[in-house]
Amino acid sequence: MQHSTADRSSRRRPIVLTTVIVFCSAVALAAACNQTTGISPDDPALIARGKDIFRFDTFGDETFWTDTLRMHEVIRSAVDPTTALSVGLKVDTDSLPPAVVQGIKNGSISLTSPATTVALLKLNAVVGVMGTVTTINGKDVLTRVGITCALCHSTVDNSFSAGIGKRLDGWPNHDLNPGAIIALSSALTPAQKAVYNSWRKGKYDARYNFDGLNGPSVIPPAYGLKGVTSVTYTGDGGELAYWNRYVAVTQMHGHGSWVETRATPPENVQNPPDMVTSKLAALQAYQLSIQSPPAPIGSFDAAAAVRGRVVFDGAGKCATCHAGTHFTDAPGRLHSPTEVVSEPEPNNAPSLASRSATKMYRSTPLRGLWQHAPYFHNGVATTLDAVVEVYNTRKALNLTAQQKADLVQYLKSL
Ligand code: HEC
Ligand code: HEC
Repeated sequence: MQHSTADRSSRRRPIVLTTVIVFCSAVALAAACNQTTGISPDDPALIARGKDIFRFDTFGDETFWTDTLRMHEVIRSAVDPTTALSVGLKVDTDSLPPAVVQGIKNGSISLTSPATTVALLKLNAVVGVMGTVTTINGKDVLTRVGITCALCHSTVDNSFSAGIGKRLDGWPNHDLNPGAIIALSSALTPAQKAVYNSWRKGKYDARYNFDGLNGPSVIPPAYGLKGVTSVTYTGDGGELAYWNRYVAVTQMHGHGSWVETRATPPENVQNPPDMVTSKLAALQAYQLSIQSPPAPIGSFDAAAAVRGRVVFDGAGKCATCHAGTHFTDAPGRLHSPTEVVSEPEPNNAPSLASRSATKMYRSTPLRGLWQHAPYFHNGVATTLDAVVEVYNTRKALNLTAQQKADLVQYLKSL
């Protein structure tokens, strides 16, 4: 589903991005500065710009979500807020004026009317969805719609009600059912709709539109990645910008270019004008600034976790691959599908590794594990107990019940 429609939108862009150039002193700051751009990745203005891009930038992908998929039509006619919340879309209360908050509370604003969804989009309150609302004959009409990174990699804290609250950037949205949302499009064949509808909550197949195969991956967190120098489940890239470009151009269908000669067949997507490249440094800086959410106090047994660490480093042999401060041996070493405990894939799906550039798996950097079940690229382990059990069986570790329980507590603490 690639397209090369030129960007002809002259629509409202909610965020005006200003270019911030920070010059690094070659002597004093060389280590902290990105050599190619001359901009420090830790520069607060760069990070702030990246945050806006992460939350609000569509890279011009309205040409796909509006002109090709015609999502604006289905949203404005059939997607009321209750339906939107049921497919995992989130509402950001910080974007809602007090009167709207009050109206939702007292029921005077209907959550079963698509017009309310359009009103929320006009307020820029639907996480990861950007709408352009035009007044036509005195009525607000959704005329364009696009998506941002936040759609899949942000959620909310539910402080108002389920699905409505303050943004939590970097937290994967495992309530989101991207396939079911895309399948609402009138522009798809029944066969395509069947594939999209098979993905289920929290999963997305970032290869389907290239190879036509069906094996969705769990949406991973975009936090806790500072210092990690191998990205994606299959270690395809060395830095986030590599994958951010892939997703922005080939999955969100924003305007830019993507070339990957390691893929079979080689990938070359050109969708001018380039609205991606100039944003990658800021986007990456923002993601690297997002820390993993620490395990809530009381969510694990601290004494057992201390014992579990000994199992992790010793009898469990976990540290042979999950090594160092980031718990990964990548990029130095990637692992073949025969070494990982998550294959074969469920539902006879094709191996994710076989569909990647490396044909291998990266030892996932372990962070925020308490937060983002299910585990492994395909989600085959729904709990950390299940993770430990599968390693114990598949790797013949012969751990005692006590060792397994302690190891689980340690994983919960990471
Ligand atoms: C439709 C859902 C979706 C959207 C939109 C999306 N992603 Fe992702 N993202 C995924 C999935 C699924 C993966 C796992 C792919 C893989 O590793 O093979 C992923 C992987 C990642 C990773 C890798 C994490 C790691 O552990 O290496 C990062 C970082 C990331 N995305 C950031 C972004 C950014 C930035 C954007 C916007 C340019 C974005 N994503 C848009 C679904 C999405
Ligand atoms: C041979 C190397 C290797 C060993 C040994 C190993 N792992 Fe892994 N681990 C991996 C790889 C590769 C992945 C990614 C697999 C996937 O996503 O399907 C992974 C994924 C995981 C995940 C999922 C993380 C997430 O965010 O989804 C957890 C948890 C984990 N390992 C814990 C452990 C524990 C506990 C042990 C010891 C009992 C262990 N690993 C031993 C290589 C290893």
